[in-house]
Amino acid sequence: MHLKNHVWRPLYIVLAIVGGILLTRTLLVPGDFGIHERGYMYGWHRKSNEAEWKAYRVKYKTAKVCAECHKDKYNDIKDSPHASISCENCHGPNYDHPKDPLGLKIDRSRALCIRCHAYMPYKDNIRAKIPGIDPLLHYPQAECVMCHYPHNPTKPNPKYNRREVKP
Ligand code: HEC
Ligand code: HEC
Ligand code: HEC
Ligand code: HEC
Repeated sequence: MHLKNHVWRPLYIVLAIVGGILLTRTLLVPGDFGIHERGYMYGWHRKSNEAEWKAYRVKYKTAKVCAECHKDKYNDIKDSPHASISCENCHGPNYDHPKDPLGLKIDRSRALCIRCHAYMPYKDNIRAKIPGIDPLLHYPQAECVMCHYPHNPTKPNPKYNRREVKP
């Protein structure tokens, strides 16, 4: 018994598609893609990708790194209500600071603080547990840092005189 044409034809098409997929795969998948040392389950990667990740510039470096050079700020904040906030949350990523000739820009705007401290009426929200002020009513004429020391915000900022803020 031999198979009829109407069986062979679709079979050829299927074989051609499978062949096409295998050919495309060999052309597109890089030669060093494989499982390498880490085993079958999680090991699938391109070998040269390891070097690429090692060369990746880490953006955020954490307060520990800042503390090496700014011990005073680190000590001020660590026992303050802002203890849980990372330096880079307010100052931005470290990148090449202090080597970066542009330095680290300081944001003294009200917006920096309002982001977390604008009063929120939604009681179930975790964000609403942060003490809130109404930005339109709470001394809108001055920057927050004129009165609050950001590294220990219940203390007055030693750099400015609170009384200079006009009512
Ligand atoms: C290796 C030492 C070193 C480390 C680490 C370091 N800094 Fe600095 N930082 C300096 C020096 C030196 C200056 C003063 C020169 C300058 O402005 O770049 C400075 C200045 C600053 C300033 C003031 C910039 C200005 O315009 O007056 C800020 C803010 C600052 N650092 C924040 C940080 C933060 C946040 C980190 C951690 C993510 C950090 N620094 C890590 C050495 C360091
Ligand atoms: C809640 C936001 C916030 C956090 C968190 C914060 N800073 Fe600041 N920082 C500021 C602001 C705003 C200023 C400018 C204050 C001013 O003008 O008096 C400042 C000023 C500075 C300066 C400039 C020098 C000076 O005497 O004013 C340095 C250095 C600095 N911060 C480092 C740090 C380090 C290190 C940390 C973490 C340990 C940190 N900051 C955490 C908001 C923050
Ligand atoms: C990333 C969020 C965040 C930012 C940005 C931030 N804060 Fe805070 N702030 C907090 C948290 C969280 C607390 C602690 C709340 C607690 O103790 O329950 C706090 C506490 C405070 C308190 C004490 C309130 C009280 O009654 O105990 C003041 C005042 C304050 N912040 C002012 C500022 C000022 C001024 C700035 C800007 C320089 C600022 N905060 C930026 C999150 C933030
Ligand atoms: C003219 C000075 C002044 C300015 C400017 C100012 N504050 Fe205050 N703030 C105070 C005083 C005074 C209190 C009362 C409690 C105290 O003495 O710390 C207070 C209280 C707070 C509290 C605690 C509220 C509570 O219910 O416990 C927060 C949070 C706060 N301020 C955040 C801010 C933020 C954010 C800004 C900027 C958008 C800002 N403040 C600007 C003087 C100021």
